[in-house]
Amino acid sequence: MITKTIVCPKCKNQIEIQGNPGDVILVTCPKCDTKGKFSFPADITEIEKTTDSYSIQIDNLTKIFKDVTAVNNVSFKVKNGEIFGFLGPNGAGKTTTIKAMLGLIHMNTGKIKINGYDIIKNSKESRTKIGYLPEIISFYENLTPVQTLNFFCEMKGQDKSIVKPLIKEVGLEDAMNKKVGTFSRGMRQLLGIAQTMIGSPSIYVLDEPMAGLDARWVKIVRDKIRMLNERGATIMFSSHILSEVQNLCTRVAIINKGRLIAEDTVPNLSKYLKIKPRLEIEISGLNGEVPNIIATFEGVEQYSAKGDILFITCDSSVRIKVIKALEEAKFEIKDIKTFEPSLEEAFVRLIEGDK
Ligand SMILES: Nc1ncnc2c1ncn2[C@@H]1O[C@H](COP(=O)(O)OP(=O)(O)OP(=O)(O)O)[C@@H](O)[C@H]1O
Ligand SMILES: [Mg+2]
Repeated sequence: MITKTIVCPKCKNQIEIQGNPGDVILVTCPKCDTKGKFSFPADITEIEKTTDSYSIQIDNLTKIFKDVTAVNNVSFKVKNGEIFGFLGPNGAGKTTTIKAMLGLIHMNTGKIKINGYDIIKNSKESRTKIGYLPEIISFYENLTPVQTLNFFCEMKGQDKSIVKPLIKEVGLEDAMNKKVGTFSRGMRQLLGIAQTMIGSPSIYVLDEPMAGLDARWVKIVRDKIRMLNERGATIMFSSHILSEVQNLCTRVAIINKGRLIAEDTVPNLSKYLKIKPRLEIEISGLNGEVPNIIATFEGVEQYSAKGDILFITCDSSVRIKVIKALEEAKFEIKDIKTFEPSLEEAFVRLIEGDK
């Protein structure tokens, strides 16, 4: 049974009514005798909350803008209390995914739960404990940070007494009375983070929080993200810079051209980025000529020769076979060096569309 207070449209008398979800009841105003119908929303008790250990669950999200499939059947989960990196090159679909999660754009297909609440069925509940830092955040240029955050407090229905402590907390106390229009990009970003902290969210969704910042500001923002996480919040942040993600995250999802290509811990990323070692084999009398057996060798992806050095890119499993074949073909091997590309190198190759 739901109890609700409604207002008589004629005499403005407040009337308390009771009913079940989906009920349509006849109401008579006890003051002016006006009669009317009231319908209790059918879904009012459909608040579903799963009690699992995920703050964010995305299942088969697809978003199509006219002729662009920005997000293509993407699924991943963010665990409670982790710092989760959402990594991908420009145009990969990061912002679109984040906007869909927050209900800012409609998805074509998919199911998303935040804090266990379905974002469509229980949109209000799903959004109450999220702090969101958009990719581009606009402030009124002639307001001070205090006035700016007062404004956000009003919008979020929060007490303004938190504003000054919040400004100190993010390290903007020296700029307390300056106009936001005079702020550097880094200072704006800190004000943006302060804005997300209003209402003490349990989940922070930060879209490229370190974009456009120099190394010093990146560190400042990174420290703030760590601070929020140490207090127990779950953080999901997007980035197109692998090192930022490596530095901060427990787990990472990589999106490229709208498709998710990995969801794993940082140390496990190398297997998704198809890191292949490069061999440098020194062979007596090679004279810059690639041996014929190498050009047709199964599993050898790239090869070249310079002087007595043969350069080969292949899987680790092919490496031994190549050496053996060269020895059997009577090439005199003098030295072998193996170079493992860094994650950064592999990620850049991926961004550039390297197969
Ligand atoms: N409102 C829109 N209308 C049409 N296409 C859009 C719209 N928003 C995004 N797109 C397209 O969807 C794709 C994904 O864009 P999105 O902004 O999600 O990428 P992103 O990963 O956030 O990139 P960036 O790192 O540059 O911020 C791009 O091809 C983009 O042009
Ligand atoms: Mg973006």
